Amino acid sequence: MSLSAPPPVGDLRLACLSCEATYSAWEVRYRCDCGGVLEVLHAHPSPPTRQQLDERLRSRATLDRSGVWRFREMVLPLAEEHIASRPEGNTPLYRHPDLSAHAGVHELLFKHEGENPTGSFKDRGMTTGLSMARALGQRSVACASTGNTSASMAAYASLFGLRSFVFIPEGAIAFGKLAQALAYGATTLQIRGDFDDAMRLVESLCARAGVYLLNSLNPFRLEGQKSIAMELVQDLGWDVPDWLVVPGGNLGNASALHKGLRELHDLGLIHRLPRLAIIQAAGANPLVRAVRAGETVVAPLPRAQTLATAIRIGAPVSGPKALRALRELRGVVEEATDKEILEAKALLDRCGIGAEPASCTTLVGVKKLRARGVISAEERVVCVLTGHVLKDPEVVVDYHLGRHALGADAPNTPLQVDADENALLRLLDSLQTDLSGG
Ligand code: F0G
Repeated sequence: MSLSAPPPVGDLRLACLSCEATYSAWEVRYRCDCGGVLEVLHAHPSPPTRQQLDERLRSRATLDRSGVWRFREMVLPLAEEHIASRPEGNTPLYRHPDLSAHAGVHELLFKHEGENPTGSFKDRGMTTGLSMARALGQRSVACASTGNTSASMAAYASLFGLRSFVFIPEGAIAFGKLAQALAYGATTLQIRGDFDDAMRLVESLCARAGVYLLNSLNPFRLEGQKSIAMELVQDLGWDVPDWLVVPGGNLGNASALHKGLRELHDLGLIHRLPRLAIIQAAGANPLVRAVRAGETVVAPLPRAQTLATAIRIGAPVSGPKALRALRELRGVVEEATDKEILEAKALLDRCGIGAEPASCTTLVGVKKLRARGVISAEERVVCVLTGHVLKDPEVVVDYHLGRHALGADAPNTPLQVDADENALLRLLDSLQTDLSGG
């Protein structure tokens, strides 16, 4: 199938969430003059039909093969020459009886966004953010990151010829992610501070140094990110689950999913909306606190702390958008302690699915919400797993070598064996006998 020419970007405007101001999408800006966060407004001159979107699943064209650009009219109508796609998306939906039994929910699905090109859900927003950078003629890009955004940005920037600067909290990002930023050639600035310090600095420096900011404060990032929702309903034959469950850090992803669902609904591509559950780490829970206290703003936490370093964030940039998402999707919040995250992760990993710690908050959240009677056993629940199991190998190895203070008693410790065939045979025999229950 041939590609239809995308409409010009002139159809897009940026709108402030706090006041009525709107701006041209061609202006490089990340906030409203009032300080509010911005979102992209689409004119949607010719949205595709379900049938057209399903036909694109059979196409071999690069843009059709991307789980982001397949939805291009709704995502970002850019000229094809600017689009930087690897391609991303097309992530699997997993299920496992042990996970359903653990959470007490019959139909529990996991959309594994860790199976994107750089191993996290960030690639969906990076392809749109970096394409916009190219459309705007930008040469260098920057972000603050707990690791996944920087890994993704570094890879996309190098593949498409831009210079990249990553601002990361020193000593507080997982090894797989640090390795990716270094390997892909980003200039890596380890800030002596936390993510919230790095975020504040990069926002101010991008404006002063003429570097294009690729954090999710950049509204074009969320346009790509929202394709998780679009791809998910397409995966389900245009059916909508009862619940979507996501981890919450900077709160861009929850906000993007909400935007995607609202737009699908407005365009008549879906006829109802799911409920949303956002799960935070107990030590990095500013949204949970705000909701429980009935606040209308997310007050920053002075210091966030959790072993799930991806979501160790005290001052989430998309707080206002996430509060709106919760209101409009009859949303709920829940939190997960580090011990609960480790246990849920061990189970998800052992089922052969695997994910980094932040992703595993979702399983903790579903189990708790089920126990509280918020989610019922018959509802269809989809958790978004945000990062690959190899992103944070230290947590896995420490856990299974019994080195983790919060770890379980019976991890999968490696067995030490001599290089002797008969000894190994005896061992294998005894292990197989154990397995058959003999
Ligand atoms: N899960 C993972 C694996 C993440 O890397 C992040 C955020 C989140 C969940 C939370 O998503 O911020 O949209 O609420 N990582 C960012 C980063 C902050 O820099 O990679 P969010």
